[in-house]
Amino acid sequence: MTVFRSVVSGCGSYLPEKIVTNKQMEELVDTTDEWIIERTGIEQRHIAAEGELTSDLARKAAEKALAAASLSANDIDLIVLATSTPDQTFPSTATRVQAALGMDKGAAFDVQAVCSGFIYALATADNFIKAGQAKHVLVIGAETFSRILDWNDRTTCVLFGDGAGAIVLSAQESSGSPEDQGILSSHLHSDGRYNEYLYVDGGVSSTQSTGYLRMRGKEVFRHAVVNLANVVTEALEFNGLTVEDVDMVIPHQANKRILDATIRKLKIDPVKVAVTVHKHANTSAASIPLALDEMIRQQRIKRGDIVVLEAMGGGFTWGSCLIRW
Ligand code: UT7
Repeated sequence: MTVFRSVVSGCGSYLPEKIVTNKQMEELVDTTDEWIIERTGIEQRHIAAEGELTSDLARKAAEKALAAASLSANDIDLIVLATSTPDQTFPSTATRVQAALGMDKGAAFDVQAVCSGFIYALATADNFIKAGQAKHVLVIGAETFSRILDWNDRTTCVLFGDGAGAIVLSAQESSGSPEDQGILSSHLHSDGRYNEYLYVDGGVSSTQSTGYLRMRGKEVFRHAVVNLANVVTEALEFNGLTVEDVDMVIPHQANKRILDATIRKLKIDPVKVAVTVHKHANTSAASIPLALDEMIRQQRIKRGDIVVLEAMGGGFTWGSCLIRW
């Protein structure tokens, strides 16, 4: 039976020009370059300029993804944009990107699953394609986390950065074989009991303000390693594959120690793992497409590879996505 499969036909990313190093962070809070590198692997982060909004970063990444796919904005049927730092409470940042791209048809909406947002957006877009409701979908992860950081809180402000990444997913006919190109499966989870471990202490309905990010880092770390290892195993088992079949892992980039611990637990060769956290810090929903774009540009992914995306974030939310490249 012929089915539709979602194939990555283009990828692009954008980082704000301004770079803030750990040494510069030392001037803001009681921290050291050594502490940040040892505990997180982060060396620097990009920070959006004044007046530069999430939709601006998203548009620039989307334009590059469209160019890589040799498509124009009006070829797109749907934009699914993952962010926890929207331009406005409403309308969605996705519709602002739609307008900025000059797209006058189709639909656009935001998805909010914090650091797992890109996986949630990808799963959503994939289902539109599989259902035959969209041919080309722009999937974007874009964040300006610098705007929700408490710059006096050394336990959080050193960890995050701003950026955006985008891919174009295109429908391709498939026999349904795991050898055919495209997304093989995605696996989403959440557990709302962990709200107070990682949250923003403000919001429209509660405080009528934006608020600041708060985190109990140690607990998040512990849950992240277990949930991420489980959700990668779930994806491999679902497709009858093993860790030996994996060619590339694109993890959410929160902390190098989380990446290492997860890979150790899964017994995956570290050379197969994308690492960009040292340059970008944690860019939440943008981190996976940013890392994916870098791996594509470095030609570390080739046709036919098995690529695993995995993320975990506030909620808690977590998920994985398995792609035959
Ligand atoms: O994207 C998903 C969401 N986020 C994450 O996945 C992050 C998960 N958590 C983590 O990455 C780590 O838990 C952190 C990097 C946040 C913290 O690392 P840790 O090894 O768990 O350190 P800790 O929180 O236990 O803190 C150790 C010490 C503390 O001092 P005392 O109490 O031992 O005297 C902290 O006060 O380090 C201190 N500390 C700092 N020192 C220098 C905390 N932040 C800093 C800092 N600079 N920026």
